[in-house]
Amino acid sequence: MQYKFTRDRENYEMYASGGVIYAAPGHTAFPVRLANEVFRRCLAFRAAQGMTGPCTLYDPCCGGAYHLTTLAYFNWNSIARIIGSDIDEDAVALARRNLSLLHSAGLERRIEELAALHERFGKPSHAAALDNARILRQWLEQWSTQRRIETAVFRADATDRRSLKAGLAGVRPDVVFTDIPYGWRSNWSPDTLALEAGIDPVQALLDALLPELAPGAVVAVASNKTVKVQHTGYRRIEKFKAGKRQLVILALEPDETGNSARANPDSGR
Ligand SMILES: C[S@@+](CC[C@H](N)C(=O)[O-])C[C@H]1O[C@@H](n2cnc3c(N)ncnc32)[C@H](O)[C@@H]1O
Repeated sequence: MQYKFTRDRENYEMYASGGVIYAAPGHTAFPVRLANEVFRRCLAFRAAQGMTGPCTLYDPCCGGAYHLTTLAYFNWNSIARIIGSDIDEDAVALARRNLSLLHSAGLERRIEELAALHERFGKPSHAAALDNARILRQWLEQWSTQRRIETAVFRADATDRRSLKAGLAGVRPDVVFTDIPYGWRSNWSPDTLALEAGIDPVQALLDALLPELAPGAVVAVASNKTVKVQHTGYRRIEKFKAGKRQLVILALEPDETGNSARANPDSGR
């Protein structure tokens, strides 16, 4: 793939998982440059349709919200609200901590933690993370004078439409960007409703999202190359490969009145 919207390899060290951004064993971290590229392709598509305002960004399989957090740091002015959800309680707790780094109180807490670690162990990695956190604090102060990004995290099975509906509570995402479980270091949870029902989880996820999305919403799905990401309620606007990953970007199918399609509330589960 060719990167269209991200400059040649920037130094992403200050966003490393386990530095300022919290990490935990078993939680993966989506590559920063690729995340930016995909998100900016989504924004470019929206802009071409005349939708240019800051968006509500949602990830229904957010893990520790690593990529949501880095997307905010790189695209502050394009995002009004970030919502993450995951079926796993530990992931939800990690996502909360990471998204707290987009607010001054959370970043201040992280600076105190890193200062304490540095004082105790004197490791160069802690010193570097502390420096980076202080730089981010300066940037955050500047950005926040323009606008804050609202954040929310909840626990939900992404294949269960009632669970997504309850968690989103009427907030309509404009951009969904999700890195679904695809078997390298993460799998669909055994508690996934779609698996229990013998339904393809990707279909069930796209089904569950459909009635919740804002008009003109786009949905970007990262997966491995064998996963079929298609659904009759959406049209595919991009499909490309990046290393071992496949990226598919879908948009809501416009209906005959020119509005975005809405799922039949009685369809699916
Ligand atoms: C590849 S990880 C996401 C990592 C994330 N993109 C990041 O950068 O931090 C996939 C996540 O999907 C979650 N997951 C598995 N089954 C799920 C389900 N049925 N509903 C919601 N999340 C699920 C896993 O708990 C895991 O956290």
